[in-house]
Amino acid sequence: LTTAAFAVSAGMALADGKVIGFSQIGSESGWRAAETTLTKKQAEERGYQLQFSDAQQKQENQIAAMRSFIAQGVDAILIAPVVATGWDAVLQEAKEAEIPVVLLDRMVDSDPSLYLTAVGSNLVHEGEVAGQWLAATVGDKDCRIVELQGTTGSSPAIDRKTGFEKGIAGHDNLKIVQSQTGDFTRSLGKEVMESFLQAENGGKDICALYAHNDDMAVGAIQAIKEAGLKPGQDILVVSIDAVPDIFKAMADGEANATVELTPNMAGPAFDALEAFWANGTEPPKFIQTESKLYTQADDPAGQYEARKDLGY
Ligand code: AHR
Repeated sequence: LTTAAFAVSAGMALADGKVIGFSQIGSESGWRAAETTLTKKQAEERGYQLQFSDAQQKQENQIAAMRSFIAQGVDAILIAPVVATGWDAVLQEAKEAEIPVVLLDRMVDSDPSLYLTAVGSNLVHEGEVAGQWLAATVGDKDCRIVELQGTTGSSPAIDRKTGFEKGIAGHDNLKIVQSQTGDFTRSLGKEVMESFLQAENGGKDICALYAHNDDMAVGAIQAIKEAGLKPGQDILVVSIDAVPDIFKAMADGEANATVELTPNMAGPAFDALEAFWANGTEPPKFIQTESKLYTQADDPAGQYEARKDLGY
């Protein structure tokens, strides 16, 4: 056997008959779709039977799915928690049933002893990188910023807001003048941007848009164009995720920067579970993925091509 073939067959042996429950938030964004696709792919390649549950953005559906996974006696649970609070009871139930739980991409406020590990990015840092990029780009000019927040109560919405404010702190010429949730969706991103444009002199008073994800930015770009302004020029656009559509917008000069969030959270999650099952290795409580800034100078057309077939 080659090393790679041995690794695959060893992984398969470990996976033998194992059932994984996956409680996904829904399909609010291109990034979310890619995470779902990659999790299913990883499970298949490693020989796991994946029980997939789509919560349609509702925490109660996620809690019901977790209880059903626990009742079935699955070998592990992956969950992308829609909001940060309200998980203690169900996590405790999983712990009592000795089912390891791995959090994917969003964090919870519960005691870390209630889950095995969490795979995700430093969400505060992502916002900070976006804010620092804007501050450096704008320089001394006065800049009125509008902000599209993610799902209310979700860890990325909370942390990306905090991080961005940190990133622009000390630059008194930069001010967030409007801030509302667009629920991480393209359609609400457009709708809320329309109201921002109306409130800000048809958009003429807005210097920059910060969106907590690319999908909301793409919706907002459409609204800016319909208002007769040029996104990327009249209004700078910075967001988070690095999905193919934002690179397309960057290549067309309609978006300026994005911070990458990898949709492959399942790979590190399965690696941690496999080490835990093989020899009881406790993973660190947080497995951090990379966050990289991309601007129009980073070959957006090439970045689009490299990502367009990855399940986004
Ligand atoms: O939790 C990660 C966020 O959720 C992504 O940035 C966003 O696109 C998604 O819906």
